[in-house]
This record gives sequence, structure tokens and C-alpha cells, in this order.
Amino acid sequence: MLTEQNILDALKEVKDPELNKSLVELNMIRNIQVDQDNNVSLTVVLTISGCPLKATIEQDVVNKLKEIGANQVELTFGSMTDQERAALAQRLRAEAGGGQSGQGGQVQGHTAISPLLASDSKTQFIAVTSGKGGVGKSTVTVNLATALARMGKRVGVIDADIYGFSVPDMMGIKQRPTVIDEVILPVEKHRVKVMSMGFFVEDNSPVIWRGPMLGKMLRNFFSEVHWGELDYMILDLPPGTGDVALDVHTMIPQSKEIIVTTPHATAAFVAARAGAMALKTNHEILGVVENMAYYQLPDGSKDYIFGRGGGEKLANELKTELLAQVPLGQPDREASVDNPSPSIYPAESLIGRIYTQMAENIVQRLEVKTG
Ligand SMILES: Nc1ncnc2c1ncn2[C@@H]1O[C@H](COP(=O)(O)OP(=O)(O)O)[C@@H](O)[C@H]1O
Ligand SMILES: [Mg+2]
Repeated sequence: MLTEQNILDALKEVKDPELNKSLVELNMIRNIQVDQDNNVSLTVVLTISGCPLKATIEQDVVNKLKEIGANQVELTFGSMTDQERAALAQRLRAEAGGGQSGQGGQVQGHTAISPLLASDSKTQFIAVTSGKGGVGKSTVTVNLATALARMGKRVGVIDADIYGFSVPDMMGIKQRPTVIDEVILPVEKHRVKVMSMGFFVEDNSPVIWRGPMLGKMLRNFFSEVHWGELDYMILDLPPGTGDVALDVHTMIPQSKEIIVTTPHATAAFVAARAGAMALKTNHEILGVVENMAYYQLPDGSKDYIFGRGGGEKLANELKTELLAQVPLGQPDREASVDNPSPSIYPAESLIGRIYTQMAENIVQRLEVKTG
């Protein structure tokens, strides 16, 4: 017969997907009862009652208990008391604050929940910029992020286009972040952790905050969000060289940049301004992505609808590499019926493979360099 201890031991291996800690360690498993026929009943105490990952947790617990020989499994769900939640939030803060640097990363005077910005942080920051909107920055951001995640990297995305946030929609994210006593947990999709202003805006109403508020928002995305450890943090910047772009430059001086352009010469000229700013602020430019570079015809030939050469010209001008030329194409809707993420190209598609290559190239360059 199974014992309470057997069950606790088994559930030590089941983690809360958002906090990446075992349910047992989080004291989320209570009231365990087992009868002679190995029918198990227990209560799972969720961090918040509307926990978006309830179904996942339920399945993981049931599967694990069946694995060790449970017969029927009956779960009851509860939620933590305010006091328990506050204690958990305090623990999350303390853990981040107690990181190797001992200060958990300072964000302009605030102690951050995530030590991403600490001086000994191993996280590689990549800001995706462009001279103007509509060239595919957000598309590049979400596809590069998912390509890196497919390689097993731990990846976060900050949608820093505060007015023009689009990452949640593009990735097909419907849920809002879980907030535990003011500690915000990023939303995870395609194994990428995401934070966006879009999560906090009701009914798509316009965001009317101005300069200082924007900077504060961006800092909050670091200081109030429990990112956990990340290998890569990709930032989708607003177009141009405005306040937010400048803020990123000052907050994350170690950030590298990818500049997105279309193949048209004028677009490349405008993008050069974003590049000039990166150079002026001493941000290393990882390279240029030429998006909408051509249309691939069924016979294999390429139709350069929007002109040709802009990406290469810009890369030369900025003395950097042309990382990729991404053709025109919509993600295959058929392939993503189950999990509609309107702007994510499936890994096996032509464009999906281009993003995989780009991710491999970037990993090789950054990880060889930092050893
Ligand atoms: N390679 C591409 N082929 C076809 N459509 C694309 C491509 N890249 C981006 N798009 C589309 O172009 C529009 C602008 O892209 P987006 O990533 O939102 O640009 P930005 O973030 O620079 O404003 C979106 O509707 C997007 O789906
Ligand atoms: Mg965008």
C-alpha cells in the first residue's frame, strides 16, 4: 500500500511550472489520504485561485501518482491564504536578492527580484531595433526567441514597445501573468517567458503614458518580474531612437543589438540611424536582419519585390554581419491549428529554418566569446 511519504516523495519531482520549484517544497500538497486500494485523495493549494496552469499541474500530479501505483486520484484545489502568499513572495525576493552578487541586481536604486542585471549575470541581452515600424522587429523577436528555446536555451522576451505592444498577440498568448503579492510571474509560451505592457491594458485601450512613466514601466519589467535564470533576454524595442531605446541603452549597457531592415535602400538608410545610435552608445551590433527580403517562387527562384541589397549595404556601413535574409511569407496556419501563434513560423518551414540558423549562429558567437 502507498503511504503518505511515498506520495510526498513522488510529488517532490513535480514542479510548479511558473515557479520552477517542487509542489512539495512550495507546501502546495496537503490533506493526503490513501485507502487500502491505493485510491489517493489530496488537496493542491495553488498560489492564486485562478492559476492559469491549474490544468497542467493537475495532469502532472495525476500522472506522477499513477506512475507509483495509485489507483484513483482525486484532487481538490484550494488557494494560499494572503499570509502564505506574502511569505512566498518574500521568499522569492530573498532568493533573488541573495544571488551570488549578494545584491540581486540593482535597477536604479531598487533591488530587483531577478538578478538579471546584476554585474555577475550570465544572461545575454539582445535588443531588436529598427529605424521605423512595420519592418518586422516583433516578428524577428518572437521567432528568434522561440528558435533559441527550441535549442534548449532559457529565454525571456520583454516587449519594450510600450505603446505598440504586439508580442502577446503574435505569440497567441491569451492569459495574463500570475501576480503573487506584487511579484509578477512572466507568461510562458513555446518555452519562452514573456512580459508585455499588453498584459496590463484592458480591452486594448491606448496607453497614454509619457516619458518618465515609460522608463519606469521598463524598469518594473526587470525589478518586479520573477524571471528566474535566463540564458537570453530578447527585447523588442519601439521603432526609432526615442526615450525607451535610450533607456535600454543606459539600463543595459551590455546589451547587444540586432537591427532589422527591409531590402529597400531608403529603409536601410533609416535603419542606419538606429545603428549609429548603437555605435555611439557603445552597444555591440550583432548584425542586421533583412526582413521581407524576397518572395520565394514555387520554381525556387526569388522575386525581389521590395528591392535588393539594403541589408547588405547596412551591414557594411555598420561594419557588421548580415545575419539573415528572411523572405516574405505567413506562418503556415494549417500547421498551427492546435496552437495558434499567428506570427511564429513552424520550425520545419523555410522561414522557421532560417530562424533556427540565425539562432545557432548567435549562440555560437556569443557563447564562444564568453566561454
Ligand atoms: N517576412 C515576412 N513576411 C510577411 N509578413 C511579414 C514578415 N515579417 C513581418 N511581417 C508582417 O509585417 C507586419 C509588421 O511586422 P512587425 O513584426 O509587427 O513589425 P515591427 O515590429 O517592426 O513594427 C506584421 O503584420 C507581420 O506579420
Ligand atoms: Mg513591433
